[in-house]
Amino acid sequence: MTAPRSLGTPAIDPDDIGHNPTDNPASPPLADLIAARLSRRRMLGFGLAGGGSALLAACGGGGGGGGFPILPAPAPSPAPAPAPSPAPAPAPAAPLELKFNPVAKSLADVVSVPAGYTATVLYRLGDPIAAGVPAYANDGSDDPATYDRRAGDHHDGMTFFGLAGGAWNPTAADRGLLVMNHEAITPLFLHPAGQTTSGSGAAQVRTVAGEVQREFYLHGVSVIEVGKDGAGAWSYKQDSAFNRRVHTLTEMEFSGPAAKSDALKTKFSPDGSKTRGTVNNCANGTTPWGTYLTCEENWAGYFRRIAADDTGRTAKETASFARYGVAGNGRELWATVTPDTADGLYGRWNTQALGAAATDDYRNGHNTYGWVVEIDPFDPASTPKKRTALGRFGHEGACLGPVVEGKPLVWYMGDDSRNEYVYKFVSAKAWDPADIGKGTAAGDKYMDEGRLYVARFDADGTGVWLELALGVNGITGSNAAYAFADAADVVVNARLAADAAGATKMDRPEWTAVNPKNGDVYLTLTNTNASSRPITATDAANPRFYNDPKGSAQTAQKGNPNGHIIRFADDGGDPAATTFAWDVYLFGARATAPADVNVSQLSDDNDFSSPDGMWFSHASPGLLWLETDDGAYTDVTNCMLLAALPGSVGDGGPRTITNVDGATTAQQDTFVGQAPGDAGLRRFLVGPADCELTGIAESGDGRALFVNIQHPGETTPVADIGDPSKFGSHWPEGGTARPRSATLVITKDDGGLIGL
Ligand code: FEO
Ligand code: CA
Ligand code: CA
Ligand code: CA
Repeated sequence: MTAPRSLGTPAIDPDDIGHNPTDNPASPPLADLIAARLSRRRMLGFGLAGGGSALLAACGGGGGGGGFPILPAPAPSPAPAPAPSPAPAPAPAAPLELKFNPVAKSLADVVSVPAGYTATVLYRLGDPIAAGVPAYANDGSDDPATYDRRAGDHHDGMTFFGLAGGAWNPTAADRGLLVMNHEAITPLFLHPAGQTTSGSGAAQVRTVAGEVQREFYLHGVSVIEVGKDGAGAWSYKQDSAFNRRVHTLTEMEFSGPAAKSDALKTKFSPDGSKTRGTVNNCANGTTPWGTYLTCEENWAGYFRRIAADDTGRTAKETASFARYGVAGNGRELWATVTPDTADGLYGRWNTQALGAAATDDYRNGHNTYGWVVEIDPFDPASTPKKRTALGRFGHEGACLGPVVEGKPLVWYMGDDSRNEYVYKFVSAKAWDPADIGKGTAAGDKYMDEGRLYVARFDADGTGVWLELALGVNGITGSNAAYAFADAADVVVNARLAADAAGATKMDRPEWTAVNPKNGDVYLTLTNTNASSRPITATDAANPRFYNDPKGSAQTAQKGNPNGHIIRFADDGGDPAATTFAWDVYLFGARATAPADVNVSQLSDDNDFSSPDGMWFSHASPGLLWLETDDGAYTDVTNCMLLAALPGSVGDGGPRTITNVDGATTAQQDTFVGQAPGDAGLRRFLVGPADCELTGIAESGDGRALFVNIQHPGETTPVADIGDPSKFGSHWPEGGTARPRSATLVITKDDGGLIGL
């Protein structure tokens, strides 16, 4: 018997499941903190010394405005060597001011923006991106073979690449390539009545290959040409030669230390040089030469691994499976379609060792995912490259640090699962602006060779970047938890290397963002719960434990359900430094929560929960955008976008937070940034029902803001697919329509800068 199902909306978000069993260091005894704070002050001084306004950064949605500034090297600090060419004195800029009226919290199934602004739907799930492809029917009847030329589902991280004369121009304001991720799917709304299956448990199988074909195409990345007409209205160009879909069937090459290693050998690629596709593309990143980085986040869940079928696997292989959470039927059951195709389109999602050797099956298929992937949007025929030097984990995003001629390039990267870490990659080669426009050939130069680090946040407000390389920081062949064989083994199993090095477990690291004004790096820590991080595991960098009073389900909301945003400054203003200073910029909370929960003193105009997407404007340096992906405060409001004007690391001070878990009370010392007030943080947009806000970019002049609405109505019960009155959302079409993820373009009615 067949039945509709909705595997893509599991009761537990796959991101919520931690797979880190290690006992990495928490805070030293509190008694050590008092003296340590003094030394931290000194460290903070170093941290800001070389920052200055000459340091600008580009990441995430960068590419417009002043994105990718190419600057002469500033005088290194504190090193005494003279600069090869002095930085130009920046013009003094007037302080930014948030000038819109804050948007009220809302549970309505609409997009709300401040008075004086207009939000328009630009690009929706299923929209055609090639000539001749029909409009999307949005009832599950669209031909599966057309989906490689339609918008994917679950719009996520996004970059605007200004376009002029057929090439990249970061200042182009009226025309560009909008490149975005399609992280996942809401299967219920993709087919006539959800996914068709038979059987149950480990025997449950997909029975309609066309439905699976749709899903293969609906993941990945879109490249679409967008432009503004004479009246100022934005649209995408359906027949642009630049339009492209990258999806789970697109051929990709490996580069860096793991390329052609045994771990990447499959039946598809016996020499381990390539794979097919990308999946669960969450946040994004950019390069200073004009390419897009898409990041493979919770890829592990797509693979089928029944533990009983582990016959013949080595202890190292099963340790790696466990550490990355590769287990179960596969969230969309893609491996279960029979018969398989000759080229193994379904069977490649099965990790079982079926043949005599790794080149006979897909026992290594999971190792070909979990990477940062470089795509050249200006060359639709180019082959995407998986950059293995940046490590394999649940890549949330890859934010480019300050770009300075003659200095290494740096990308900051979160690993999104509970109790995972934050990483950075520092290129071996120094930046040369002559490489602008060289596509993935430039990537070969800067992204295949360098040092990968993981962060340890110490209780005194400083931190250390621990290098992940064979032979250092306990990453050796004699490491008890996992014996590392070579450089490829270290990047393929970067989480295990980070365990050995002693990284700090965090409350689910999401996006990173770099403040172009001073080089400070921000990291959203979306939330955690009591089982992942009990009150006894609280530390200075993850300092709160409390009970968020959502409805009557209080015990489900214990831990840090509202999340926080930590920030750090690499010492000496040098992104390649191996030490840093940190503080907590903001704590999510209800405005009504007690002072030890609402530590940042949020008000009705700016309270939020579960920060996720985060990006600094380039057109308006110093303006930070924050997006939420929340399930805790959703009794009061849908997810939202906020505008912020943060200060800098160290602008607040030490703070002792009193945490409560039932009858248990515990104190935690930490360092907290200055409370933002309504002038420093304000709600700009509230999304429709049951969505998350994610992905953000701006046109080259900062007068158009692109924002993604992901999965409106995603928790609609499978049984209700036949009754539109029970859908959790009908956005954006309204009426009785099925909901669709979509890109918004937001403009100010007077044509001004957004938010200011
Ligand atoms: Fe895909 Fe980390 O959210
Ligand atoms: Ca995210
Ligand atoms: Ca999230
Ligand atoms: Ca999501």
